[in-house]
Amino acid sequence: MVDTSQFAGKTVIVTGAAGGLGRAFAEGFAARGANIVIADMNEAGSAETVALVDKAGAKAIAVTTNVTQKASTDALMDAALAAFGSIDVVINNAAMYATIKRAPFYELDPDEWDRVMAVNVKGAWLVSASAFPKMTQATGRIINIASATVFSGSPMWMHYVASKGAVIGMTRVMAREVGKTGVTVNAIAPGFTLTEASLSLMEDADTYGVSSRAIPRASQPDDMVGTALFLASADAGYITGQTIVVDGGKQFI
Ligand SMILES: NC(=O)c1ccc[n+]([C@@H]2O[C@H](COP(=O)([O-])OP(=O)(O)OC[C@H]3O[C@@H](n4cnc5c(N)ncnc54)[C@H](O)[C@@H]3O)[C@@H](O)[C@H]2O)c1
Repeated sequence: MVDTSQFAGKTVIVTGAAGGLGRAFAEGFAARGANIVIADMNEAGSAETVALVDKAGAKAIAVTTNVTQKASTDALMDAALAAFGSIDVVINNAAMYATIKRAPFYELDPDEWDRVMAVNVKGAWLVSASAFPKMTQATGRIINIASATVFSGSPMWMHYVASKGAVIGMTRVMAREVGKTGVTVNAIAPGFTLTEASLSLMEDADTYGVSSRAIPRASQPDDMVGTALFLASADAGYITGQTIVVDGGKQFI
């Protein structure tokens, strides 16, 4: 059992934490006493997450961040250090997801391709690049949010699927490059999970894919939190470059 008291006073940066999975990660670490930095472009949603962390008795700041801009990701790290004095865990969760324009690969809009790659791939890189030199070297943790869709190849989303495949590849490269320092880099690949974003995709979202899971129920944002806590813990210090699929047993990789 992971001793979650180890997160008390640690600083956890969660990108895209204005709602959905990012908010669940923020609340999950806050409940264990971590200081939370919410990095999102959505200021109203970020303020709501700050209020929820506050309610959990932990400290949070929201830093309006555009993960596609290096100046913005550098400023995020400065703000985190100024507020809490360390950067211990970074969760790269911000992405273009439910709002993406979908089409078969032969009809995808090249501009939409570039927008998806800018946020989902370049964004995860820039946040990690800004964070790594400033993060706690012996025990720092980078956790990238990929998607189980990489392993199923969902049609009409090739740009999104490719972006999440890139996240898994980057996770492996970063893990090798920084392993000597003690910083680990891993990915979580969630299956379809009920968030405001995913619920907007279809009417039957709450039953979508459920029958093909070993655990036949809908996935909730909280289902992702335990894996993030484990990967962030000292107990996971010898695990790096890995991708953990959290989808109730839909696909086995
Ligand atoms: N919900 C699912 O079914 C599911 C499944 C697999 C993977 N994921 C992944 O989980 C993560 C969260 O998904 P979600 O369902 O909570 O979606 P979401 O749309 O609620 O979360 C994405 C967040 O990223 C933020 N964001 C977008 N562009 C940004 C930018 N340039 N800079 C900073 N922030 C930006 C958005 O404002 C939003 O708050 C995403 O990486 C998504 O791809 C979700």
